[in-house]
Amino acid sequence: MLVSAKEMLEKARDGKYAVGQFNINNLEWTKAILLTAQEMNSPVILGVSCGAGKYMTGFKTVASMVSSMIDDLKITVPVALHLDHGTYEACYDCIDAGFSSIMFDGSHYPIEENIEKTKELVKICKEKGLSLEAEVGSIGGEEDGVIGMGECADPNECKSIADLGVTMLAAGIGNIHGKYPANWPGLSFETLAAVKEKVGNMPLVLHGGTGIPEDMIKKAISLGVAKINVNTECQLAFAAATRKYIEEGKDLEGKGFDPRKLLAPGSEAIKETVREKINLFGSAGKA
Ligand code: G3H
Ligand code: ZN
Repeated sequence: MLVSAKEMLEKARDGKYAVGQFNINNLEWTKAILLTAQEMNSPVILGVSCGAGKYMTGFKTVASMVSSMIDDLKITVPVALHLDHGTYEACYDCIDAGFSSIMFDGSHYPIEENIEKTKELVKICKEKGLSLEAEVGSIGGEEDGVIGMGECADPNECKSIADLGVTMLAAGIGNIHGKYPANWPGLSFETLAAVKEKVGNMPLVLHGGTGIPEDMIKKAISLGVAKINVNTECQLAFAAATRKYIEEGKDLEGKGFDPRKLLAPGSEAIKETVREKINLFGSAGKA
């Protein structure tokens, strides 16, 4: 059964660890992530961007696939199905489709409009028992057409959004989607501490989890980050393993071209990436 992310994130915040959000793109991704979370007895959040939702033919298909897979695989750890960087319209579509958690990314709106729209979504998510993530400031780089300038969040604006009653808050702290450039100055812990100071106990979300050095991840968790999003790293791992399989000519041996064989090394690579992240974030054994 899908659950809201509220309880797992509050437990993570109190226990000083973080729950991983791993983005899904298809059946292989979903299965690899669910099996790894189960194997490690860890709560998990499956992220679905608007683009990935469209690719998988629609949010309803995604919700049915994930719910059925949880049953068929006998997954017992808490799983939240979460809209990632949702537009205002997509939030309503996912609420309708049966998602258990929503992110409204209103970071590109003027703050007044971000507040107004977030407020409306707080009301409906509370009525339906769904968790809601809001964003202030922006995440640099690009993810599925969502482009951010990477400006650090204003702590006072974070407080205005947190006070609306959202479940979790993503604040831009110099984090970037995709690979970090060599000259990246690192996360702004000054901003993170100032945001925490203003929003108190609110679980914070760190986007752009791919490639952030381990010490920074640990420091971010110590400053209130309870959810960390990882997307690109699974994609890179899948692509590298699939490339290796093909370059070694394995698709030409026997029935190596069968998609169940061809996609297997990529699935294993996703599992390994998720395993590493769950260990790093400290959520193993916390289901
Ligand atoms: O919303 C999803 C993420 O923030 C993932 O970022 O692709 O850099 O790991 P990433
Ligand atoms: Zn993100």
